[in-house]
Order: sequence, then C-alpha cells, then structure tokens
Amino acid sequence: ALASMTEMLNKAKDGKYAVGQFNINNLEWTQAILQAAEEEKSPVILGVSEGAAKYMGGFPVVTAMVNALVKTMNITVPVAIHLDHGQSFENCKAAIDAGFTSVMIDGSHHPIDENIAMTQEVVKYAHEKGVSVEAEVGTVGGKEDGVVGGVTYADPQECLRIVKEAEIDCLAAALGSVHGDYDGEPKLGFDEMKEISELTGAPLVLHGGSGIPEHQIKKAIELGHSKINVNTECQQVWTAAVREKLNNDSKVYDPRKVIGPGKAAIVNTVKAKIEEFGSNGKA
Ligand code: G3H
Ligand code: ZN
Repeated sequence: ALASMTEMLNKAKDGKYAVGQFNINNLEWTQAILQAAEEEKSPVILGVSEGAAKYMGGFPVVTAMVNALVKTMNITVPVAIHLDHGQSFENCKAAIDAGFTSVMIDGSHHPIDENIAMTQEVVKYAHEKGVSVEAEVGTVGGKEDGVVGGVTYADPQECLRIVKEAEIDCLAAALGSVHGDYDGEPKLGFDEMKEISELTGAPLVLHGGSGIPEHQIKKAIELGHSKINVNTECQQVWTAAVREKLNNDSKVYDPRKVIGPGKAAIVNTVKAKIEEFGSNGKA
C-alpha cells in the first residue's frame, strides 16, 4: 500500500532500525525493490531523483508504474514514492500533483534562511495532502546526477531551526557521508550525529548509504538515523551482473535475458540491506 514516510520513520526511530530508500531507474528496478521488500516484510521507500524521473518519462509515468506494480504484484508492505533531492518548490509540487507520497526539498546549497523558507513552502503544500517532507542541512560529498560538491558538516543550530521552523518529517544532516563511488571509508561525525538527534528529535536520514561498512551503519542507526539512502550499490551490482552475462554469452540478444541477471542482483542486494538496516519483519 502507498504511504508517506511519516509513520514508517517514526516507528523506525522508536524501534531503532532504519527504512531503506532504494532509487529506481526503470520497470525492472522497481519490480526488484518491491519484490525484495515484500519478501522481507519490510516498509520501503522508492527514491526517484529528478534525473531518473525525467529518464522514465516524467512524474506521472513513475506514479502510474508504481501504482500498477503495487497492485499487480500484491504488495502489502508500506511503499513510499519519494522525490530524491528535489531542487525547487515547483519540482516538489509537480511530483506531489502526480501522486508522489513524499518529497525531499534539498535547499542545502542555499543560505540557511533561504533553505528554511523553501522548505516551509514545500511543507505547507505537502502536509495538506498527507505527503511527507525531508530537508537537508550541510553538504553530502561526491557526485549525484551531475551535482558535485565537497563535504560540509551540518550545523546543529541550523538543524534545530529547520526542524522547528519548517516542521519537516525527517532531516538529512550531512555528517561526512559521500554520494557515489569513492575510495576508503567515509569519516562520519558520530558525536555531531548524537548531538543533532538529541537536539532536534527528528528522524535522521543518511545519504550516500553505499559503501559504508556495516559497523558504521549500525552506529548511525543507534544514534538516530531512521532512513538510509542506497543508490550506487544497486547500480554497481546490476551492471556487474549484466556485464557478466554479456561476457559469458556471446549469442544472447533477447533484452530480457541480457538484463534479467541485473534484476536478480538488485533483489539480493536490497534484501541484504533491509536485513542490515533491521527493517525486515517490521511491515
Ligand atoms: O539520495 C540518494 C542517496 O544519497 C544515494 O547515495 O548513491 O551513495 O548510495 P549512494
Ligand atoms: Zn542523496
């Protein structure tokens, strides 16, 4: 059943586990993530970047596809369709109008007063329609859909202000995590994490969830993270599986057979993440 993130994240915060956001790119991606969540009896968040929405033909195509799959696959676990890194009120509104149940307004590259003002405008529109809102403070490192930047830790007082003044449902406080592929381990600010979680009381969101070792994930959940975003790892396992198929089968030409192994790889990865985050059996 489609749902906003509000209830799933509040429950996760109380239960000390995290709900995964897994980004989708197409039909097979969506099928794989829904299948994994249903098999694990876990709530799930389908992340849709502005670039991915455009790639799939626009927000209405995304919601039509997800709604149809939830029905035909008999999905019983809570599913949120969430705009990932929305860049403006207009884009968030377009996603909401098309049936998204959740949006992120990412005003993190604007000064805090502007970030709060943008977020307030989105919250006003979204909450009237039962849609949840995520905001971001600080800067996640790395690259995503062409947006490149270094790491800037979130300021605790700015976090408190945006939670109180904009009444958001969850907060992405950037604390050293990095988008995309990178070498080594990220340096997560665990002291700041504890401080921001206690100060704001809001469910925290960890961006750049790919490539973070399990002990750091567990600690981040312990210190207030209720949502973890994973994109790159699914892309990597999909591509590795498809590459292997093509390398090992020079005769294959049926597209379903070419990309079939990619879908299976995503199912496995998403199930493993759900178990690592502890949201299995929580639907
Ligand atoms: O918003 C999406 C996530 O933060 C994805 O990060 O590609 O490093 O897994 P990732
Ligand atoms: Zn992100």
